[in-house]
Amino acid sequence: MEKASKIYIAGHTGMVGSAIVRNLKANGFSNLVFRASGELDLKDQKAVAGFFETEKPEYVFLAAAKVGGIEANNTYRGQFLYENLMIQSNIIHQSYVHGVKKLLFLASSCIYPKMAPQPIKEEYLLTGALEPTNEPYAIAKIAGLKMCENYNLQYGCNFISVMPTNLYGPNDNYDLKNSHVLPALLRKFHEAKVNNKDSVEVWGSGSPRREFLYVDDLAEACFHLMQTYHGNVSVNIGTGKDISIKELAQLIKRITGFKGEIEWNTKKPDGTPRKLLDVSLINSLGWKYSTGLEEGISLTYADKFLN
Ligand SMILES: NC(=O)c1ccc[n+]([C@@H]2O[C@H](COP(=O)([O-])OP(=O)(O)OC[C@H]3O[C@@H](n4cnc5c(N)ncnc54)[C@H](OP(=O)(O)O)[C@@H]3O)[C@@H](O)[C@H]2O)c1
Repeated sequence: MEKASKIYIAGHTGMVGSAIVRNLKANGFSNLVFRASGELDLKDQKAVAGFFETEKPEYVFLAAAKVGGIEANNTYRGQFLYENLMIQSNIIHQSYVHGVKKLLFLASSCIYPKMAPQPIKEEYLLTGALEPTNEPYAIAKIAGLKMCENYNLQYGCNFISVMPTNLYGPNDNYDLKNSHVLPALLRKFHEAKVNNKDSVEVWGSGSPRREFLYVDDLAEACFHLMQTYHGNVSVNIGTGKDISIKELAQLIKRITGFKGEIEWNTKKPDGTPRKLLDVSLINSLGWKYSTGLEEGISLTYADKFLN
């Protein structure tokens, strides 16, 4: 990408899309194109074709998607499959039709097999059954990265895809019905503190281990890969370090300043015992995370709750 290149960021209001916009601006790119979802529904094939015809972007970051936590994924199964297939197919296909020079597609680490060996290497994709609760989302994402791969093979496109671990940071979703674990805990502990509650209930036993990456680090990784990587392997992006939910809850309790107790609701399911990405490929490509978990959570907490 050149500084004057025309770059379309799909999903620019979301957590990932807004971090990519911050990153591009910080790196001196200003010819950026966006459309709010109210203006351009990316599920609408004709509208997306018209947008590409008018704007003719040279580069595309595909960060628009229907995203949610375990409950939303499991409840709105049809919608997760349909909306993600439509959004990504429309953008990837129109990027091919209009000669986009390079596209980066955001897949997700939750599309690896449920029982994948840990840490998860890129080659474990499609080697086993998926986690049933997010199977529709995973199937859509797998279709997206396979579409990139096969458009490269058939049409000579330069479309890459990435598999980020769990992300957190500014512009995350804090709605307790469909948020991910880290923002949900931040909100619960913050509200318990301001309302002088004695305890906070946390779902599960606290023993599962998860990996978390600050979203601005993810944006830097996407920028780096957009500038340097060409290939059909969907690249893992993470820290390579995990933490138990118990340790995470204690860290968030400390950061928010909540003084009460943590109550573990062991009637709620724990999910997969461990999910950690093998990040040797992206490290060998010249990128490593820079924001530690405590620093990242403190930045996120200040951004959302202390301003
Ligand atoms: N969050 C994570 O932990 C995580 C981890 C791994 C991978 N990812 C991937 O990163 C990508 C972005 O995730 P995110 O967390 O940034 O999600 P997000 O905050 O929910 O943002 C989604 C974006 O997509 C837009 N969008 C959704 N449906 C649309 C439609 N029909 N037409 C136009 N725009 C539409 C939203 O616009 P509106 O707000 O206007 O609807 C929003 O800008 C996804 O592909 C996700 O799989 C996320």
